[in-house]
Amino acid sequence: MPRIFVLGASGTVGSELSRLLAAQGETVVKATSRAPTAPDQVQLDLLNHGGLSTAFNGVDRAFFLAPPGHTNQDVLLAPLVDEAKARGLKKVVLMSAMGANADDNAPLRKAERRLEASGLAYNIIRPNWFMQNFNTFWLQGIRSAGQIFLPVGAAKGSFIDARDIAAVAARLLTSDTFANRDFDLTGPLALDHNEVAAILTQASGKPIGFTDIPPEAMLTALKEAGLPQDYAEFLLVILGYFKAGYAERTTDHVREITGQAPRTLAQYAKDYKASWA
Ligand SMILES: NC(=O)c1ccc[n+]([C@@H]2O[C@H](COP(=O)([O-])OP(=O)(O)OC[C@H]3O[C@@H](n4cnc5c(N)ncnc54)[C@H](OP(=O)(O)O)[C@@H]3O)[C@@H](O)[C@H]2O)c1
Repeated sequence: MPRIFVLGASGTVGSELSRLLAAQGETVVKATSRAPTAPDQVQLDLLNHGGLSTAFNGVDRAFFLAPPGHTNQDVLLAPLVDEAKARGLKKVVLMSAMGANADDNAPLRKAERRLEASGLAYNIIRPNWFMQNFNTFWLQGIRSAGQIFLPVGAAKGSFIDARDIAAVAARLLTSDTFANRDFDLTGPLALDHNEVAAILTQASGKPIGFTDIPPEAMLTALKEAGLPQDYAEFLLVILGYFKAGYAERTTDHVREITGQAPRTLAQYAKDYKASWA
């Protein structure tokens, strides 16, 4: 029976994608860089490509992403694209990030180009900033000080719920309708971080504010949280793009692909309210 390979299957998007595909009756091969603990897992470490020669056994479609924490996404992903091509996979869906195609020489864009040039049937999805960052990456400041600390001023972002990204990926992996197209994915509207904080406050009952911090303070905080210097600097650069307004745009692709409107931040906040209480 054909199987769908999901990279990052334990992560925010990949776990929901795996769940959705299984609910549709698909057989999912869940990749992990760790030692597998379940029969539906395969070990594949993108840092050394250990496991790649067997990871696609019995697989006919695949979902790829670049694990966070690394700035050489092209180096990490190129061997997977090549292996997918050698195996003649029917479809590869790559999740990159909104704005990744602004510079053809950016590592993530190089990974996209490798897939585009592979001859494989593909989709590239480029989500905007995830809503789920407020219950993961930015959670520490909310828990400890009741503040979202970011160097983004009053700029707005059309944050997207990761569950909608997963729904898009699930549809693209199981349909030929959209072959060889790329999609910027956003939530329904752009909000600034004061508006986000107010929505999280209303949902959770915990007073949450927003503090605009200098980029240098953000860099220090990211490094103290254990991020490598180059990845922390990369995040600072893309937060600068957010501040410059590049994350404000909205698209209608979630609805176009899934038939459902993307979730609002209020819906997200209601579902995740326990994270902040
Ligand atoms: N957060 C945002 O706002 C945002 C916006 C746009 C795009 N993105 C993109 O989204 C992607 C992250 O997706 P996510 O948030 O769903 O992921 P995530 O929750 O951070 O999870 C990362 C996944 O990568 C796997 N992984 C880590 N190291 C690995 C390695 N060496 N080899 C193979 N797999 C490895 C992990 O699985 P194991 O631990 O089991 O190996 C885990 O499932 C990134 O490419 C990022 O650029 C994020």
